[in-house]
Amino acid sequence: MTILDGKKTSEQIKQEIADEVTKIKSEGGKIPHLAAVLVGKDGASQTYVNSKVKDCEQVGFGSTLVQLDENTGEQELLDSVQEINDNPDIDGIIVQLPLPDQISVQKVTEIIRPEKDVDGFHPVNVGRMVKGLPAYIAATPFGIMQLLERYQVETSGKNCVIIGRSDIVGTPMSILMARKANPGNCTVTLCHSRTKDIKAHTLEADIVIAALGRPGFLTGEMVKDGVVVIDVGITRVPDSTRKRGYALKGDVDFDSVSPKCSHITPVPGGVGPMTRAALLWNTLQAAKNSFYHSVATTE
Ligand code: GUN
Repeated sequence: MTILDGKKTSEQIKQEIADEVTKIKSEGGKIPHLAAVLVGKDGASQTYVNSKVKDCEQVGFGSTLVQLDENTGEQELLDSVQEINDNPDIDGIIVQLPLPDQISVQKVTEIIRPEKDVDGFHPVNVGRMVKGLPAYIAATPFGIMQLLERYQVETSGKNCVIIGRSDIVGTPMSILMARKANPGNCTVTLCHSRTKDIKAHTLEADIVIAALGRPGFLTGEMVKDGVVVIDVGITRVPDSTRKRGYALKGDVDFDSVSPKCSHITPVPGGVGPMTRAALLWNTLQAAKNSFYHSVATTE
């Protein structure tokens, strides 16, 4: 059984990015700059955004953190994003989700200029991805594709079952795993809350991607021998034995599933760090202004 080590792989990717930044600097080029917008005080969101800013420092990017009060109105946020859109120093923009109820996620997503949409959430980027055109691909799906590619996991002709149909992970993963590319070329089944018998599907799967946000959902008796398992879950579960008061739990019951696997991602140290590295990679592309020339991996 091979552990798909997202921590180690993400460090490699970050080193590649840092080397490229050094080269850009020596040539007097544009240093990549990410702007992160955080509305409110959600603990997990604050942690994620702080990590993203720290990652930027690690690879030599510039970063701007815009922190807005949780009572911020929709127009105020839209104006703030527009200002960043118009700032030529800033290459990439993310607005951390979830947003407070008074703000439309759709409006915010759509106001970000597609060339600066390093989250890959804008309909232009989603549409380009679906058509197999170069696009920013959302960081978690992109990070998973990188992990599969770098570990040379065979995907062609395999049955891939994805559990969870979110905009950010499950739905884009279903497109990427089915497309004519490597990794890709899978026969994809997208399971969700209305799927009648998820176990019947996962038992037929060569690759399972668990992205539903239910700790320990996928258990050993739901998978066959030799399966590749990707665990996207990172739910905070209360844990009084830890100083911070919680533990991160994946959607996969690692103890019962891992003995049956050919490959598996751990939590923590699997998909999470790959997501962070993928965001940096997208931001580097934005700074290089190569939106129309890169990203899609094709055979
Ligand atoms: N919230 C959870 N994941 C993400 C992400 O990838 N990007 C943003 N902007 N917010 C998120």
